[in-house]
Amino acid sequence: MKAHELIQHFKKLFGDHPRIFRAPGRVNLIGEHTDYNDGFVMPAAVAFSTYVAIAARPERKLVMRSEEFPVNFEFDLDNLPEQRTRAWCDYVLGVVSVLRQRGHQLVGANLLVRGEVPIGAGLSSSAALEVASALALMSMSNVQLPLTEVAQICRQAENSFVGARVGIMDQFVSCRGKAGHALLLDCRSLEFQFVPIPAGISLVVCNTMKKHDLATGAYNTRREECEEGVRYFAKWSSEVRALRDVSLELLDQHTHELPATIGKRCSHVVRENQRTLDDARAFAEGDLIRVGTLMRESHESLRDLYEVSCRELDIMVEAAEGLPGFCGGRMTGGGFGGCTVNLVREEHAEDFAQQIAERYRQKTAIHPQVYLCTAEAGAGELS
Ligand code: GLA
Repeated sequence: MKAHELIQHFKKLFGDHPRIFRAPGRVNLIGEHTDYNDGFVMPAAVAFSTYVAIAARPERKLVMRSEEFPVNFEFDLDNLPEQRTRAWCDYVLGVVSVLRQRGHQLVGANLLVRGEVPIGAGLSSSAALEVASALALMSMSNVQLPLTEVAQICRQAENSFVGARVGIMDQFVSCRGKAGHALLLDCRSLEFQFVPIPAGISLVVCNTMKKHDLATGAYNTRREECEEGVRYFAKWSSEVRALRDVSLELLDQHTHELPATIGKRCSHVVRENQRTLDDARAFAEGDLIRVGTLMRESHESLRDLYEVSCRELDIMVEAAEGLPGFCGGRMTGGGFGGCTVNLVREEHAEDFAQQIAERYRQKTAIHPQVYLCTAEAGAGELS
């Protein structure tokens, strides 16, 4: 990102010198659809980021512009929309609304957004916009909050204002990611530890180019199915508050008593939690064969039990098999389109990218985008 270009663009639009805040997108290595079940996830922040340039305004107005979308928005801070407008500004408005609900006073500001996280690719462009906007708005108004709280605010914005009932994973890793590391997060306690990505391993992210849209139904339906599962298990064991609390034994004992769909969803979540913990251990031990097995199992479970994969994702996952340097891969993010993540030995990463793109193109007639990623630091102000 060329910061001086964004600064020049901002000056041209608003006549002021801005401060710039950056928040990254993410890939999730394992632990899919576990965050809103109080479970474990292991994402990494990546180099694609959203930047928000901002300067305060004297009157109580919020003016928002984006370098990607032509529409401009202007709102009166004391008379903000109470419901989503179904435009990109909702992510910012949601953050404003939650900050204010929590008692923080905000001043008027001009914002210019540059989003470099591919949209609809499952790399968390929305979390990146929320987090970068939150930090930008907070700094104008001298609001200082721990990054974990910023992540919670952004998640709440997406839940209550945008209407997608997402978990905390994306906002959390966007805030707290660390270069060269994945982050193993306990989504109940929000305790986390960094897991080094083994030396010589690249994260190759393959975009199927099939867009997903979280707010449209299927994601929220999965959440409801999990909640239904919890209601059953809570009858069988008083300790169950979330699927996180269901042990493998309890699951095996009762799966056959659940409606078939609910049983499949619960099996995925309970086993995916265990896989995530096992994967963190395998990473620490440098056991890439085990990592590869766990990633494959995770994908199969998302495909067959949680039913959030799609033809394009399955083809992309299969296309990786057998390529030189490939250690493991799976779909990443909410599903129904978007990307796969692959661990590939660095010296093979470029060839891998070319070959997987070619294999995918032959099967689908779609030209995918393939990104060679590294794990990056979380959000902050550009100096
Ligand atoms: C989306 C959500 C996350 C998480 C994943 C699935 O990315 O934003 O909270 O639920 O889907 O693991």
